Amino acid sequence: MKKKLRIGSLISGGGTNLQAIIDSCANGKIYGEIVFTGSDTPDVKGLERAQKAGIDTFVVDYKKIIQDAKENLNSLVLPNDFNFDDIKAKQQLIKNGADGKKIEFFLKTRAVAERMLLDKIEPYKIDLLVLAGFMRTLTPYFIDRVNWVKGEHKIMNIHPALLPAFPGTDGYGDTFRYGCKVGGCTVHFIDYGEDTGPIIGQRAFQIEDKDTLDIVKQKGLALEWQLYPECIQKFAKALISKL
Ligand code: GRF
Repeated sequence: MKKKLRIGSLISGGGTNLQAIIDSCANGKIYGEIVFTGSDTPDVKGLERAQKAGIDTFVVDYKKIIQDAKENLNSLVLPNDFNFDDIKAKQQLIKNGADGKKIEFFLKTRAVAERMLLDKIEPYKIDLLVLAGFMRTLTPYFIDRVNWVKGEHKIMNIHPALLPAFPGTDGYGDTFRYGCKVGGCTVHFIDYGEDTGPIIGQRAFQIEDKDTLDIVKQKGLALEWQLYPECIQKFAKALISKL
């Protein structure tokens, strides 16, 4: 029997996508297993879901790291392998020409949080990292250390809109307020930009005139729960065929 895909997961909240992935691993729709669930926020429902399924969990409290740094940026203990100029040159999350202090604060606080994530993640030797409602952008410091084989993507995300339309944190809200008649969701790999990486799969739904934002979200989420496991299984199959 071939090796199952070792999947790591990061969340920030309710974890309904995480649940869909857990269930798909259990019923064989995904030939893989979730080996950990990490969260940037303590006490969220998604952590409970993971624990119930017997999955290891951890928290890296981004909010606290950022708050402490606001009080004293010099108190940050930067990772030994963090090269500010290199990460600044690669990053595409904050526009060139933005306030230098803002870029410095962002990249340094994220490097500290991302090093903590990496320390937790590395022992699990994962094949794939899935972001399942993880509401933090990742910088090249983290991405390059997970995608350690050049040109091979290992971080997947689900986005609540038909990319490249409506990147950002409120895809369904932005789709609805724009007056779109079709909404959807996208699974893509993570690159240095915000929601810009290669697209793996998409699913669309009709928005009727009578639909409220809540209904749009419900329609979208129901499709997410199908699409994400399918895309993960596609990745698992491709990996297995290489072994
Ligand atoms: C989903 O809509 C997902 O597309 C977005 O965040 C939401 C997470 O929901 N990235 P859940 O935590 O999986 O229920």
